[in-house]
Amino acid sequence: MGSSSRLAGQLFATAVVACGQGLHSVGNIFDPQATPAESAYNVSLLMLAICAAIFVVVGGFLTFTIVRYRGRQKDDGREPAQVYGSNRIEIAWTVIPVLIVLVLTMATARAVVEVQNRRMPADALQVTVIGHQWWWEIRYPSLGIVTANELHVPLSTAAKPAVAFLTLDSADVAHSFWVPQLAGKTDLIPGHVNTMWIDPRQAGTFLGNCAEYCGTQHANMLIRVIVEPPADFDKWAAAQKLDAASEPRLESAQSAFLSLSCINCHAVSGTPAKGTFGPDLSHLMSRATLGSGRIPNTVENLRAWVKDPQAIKHGNLMPNMQLNSRELDEVVAYLASLK
Ligand code: CUA
Repeated sequence: MGSSSRLAGQLFATAVVACGQGLHSVGNIFDPQATPAESAYNVSLLMLAICAAIFVVVGGFLTFTIVRYRGRQKDDGREPAQVYGSNRIEIAWTVIPVLIVLVLTMATARAVVEVQNRRMPADALQVTVIGHQWWWEIRYPSLGIVTANELHVPLSTAAKPAVAFLTLDSADVAHSFWVPQLAGKTDLIPGHVNTMWIDPRQAGTFLGNCAEYCGTQHANMLIRVIVEPPADFDKWAAAQKLDAASEPRLESAQSAFLSLSCINCHAVSGTPAKGTFGPDLSHLMSRATLGSGRIPNTVENLRAWVKDPQAIKHGNLMPNMQLNSRELDEVVAYLASLK
C-alpha cells in the first residue's frame, strides 16, 4: 500500500511536470510550419470564412425577423402572408448551397492533389514509421538508424530545401500519424502502406499524437518531431548510428540485462539483444519521454517504468518483469547509460 501510494504520488508529480513541459500539449493548427500543413490551413481559412459569412447572413435575417416582426400589440386575429411553392425561393436555397459545397469541394480537392502529387526531390530523407500499440517505431533505412517515438528531421530553408518522406505502416491495428503543425493526418494501416511528406521550416519540437482510436492507450501514443538545422541533424544521425555505449564499469549491469528476457523484445545495437517487438533501446536516453510521451525520460521514471510498466501505462505490452531490487538496479544502471 505504502509503495503504491508513493508511486501514485510520484506519477502525479511527473504528470504536473509533464503538463508544465507541454508533454501532452498539441500543436497549434493555426500556426503551420510545413507545406502540407499550410495547404490544410489555407483550406480551413476558406471554410471558416464561408461559414462565418453564412452565419452572419442567416443570423442577421433571423435577428431582423425577430425584432421587426415581434408581437407589438394584441393579436388582431389576422393570419400573416403564407408563402409556399415559390419556385424562385426554392431555386435560390438549392442553388446557393450547391455552389458553396462545390467551391469547398474543389478547394479541398486541389489542396489534397497538390500535396499528394508533389514530386519528391531525389535527396528526400526516407523514413519508415510503423505504428504499434502504443508507440511509434521509426526507421531510417538509408542511414541504418532505428529509434522510437521521436522523429528527427532536418530543417528546410529556402536556400536548402529538405523534405522528409514518410512511409507509414502498422504492426497491429490502424493508427494515424498527426502532427498538426506539419501535415494533415495519415492513417497507418496494417498490410497497406501509406505515404506522406513534410518540409518543416521552423526548428524546434513539434508534438503530435495518434489520431485513430487504437485501444486503451490511444491517448498516450504521442509523437515528437524534432526539427533541427542540417548540421545538428547529421550530428544526431551520426550518434544514433554508433553501437550502444558499453562502459567497462557497467559490464555486470550489462550482462544482467542481457540475461533477462528484456532482450526477447528489445534491441540494443552491438549486443546480443535483437528483439524487435518493443522499442529499440540502443540510444534510449537520447529520447525525451518514456512510454511514447507518457512521462519524461528521467532515471527515476525509468526505474518506475521498468519496475512496473503497467502502473504507468496500463495495458501496454511490456509486462511487469518482477525484478528483484538488485536486478532492477542493474537494468536501470545499464539502460541509463545508453545515451
Ligand atoms: Cu495508435 Cu491511436
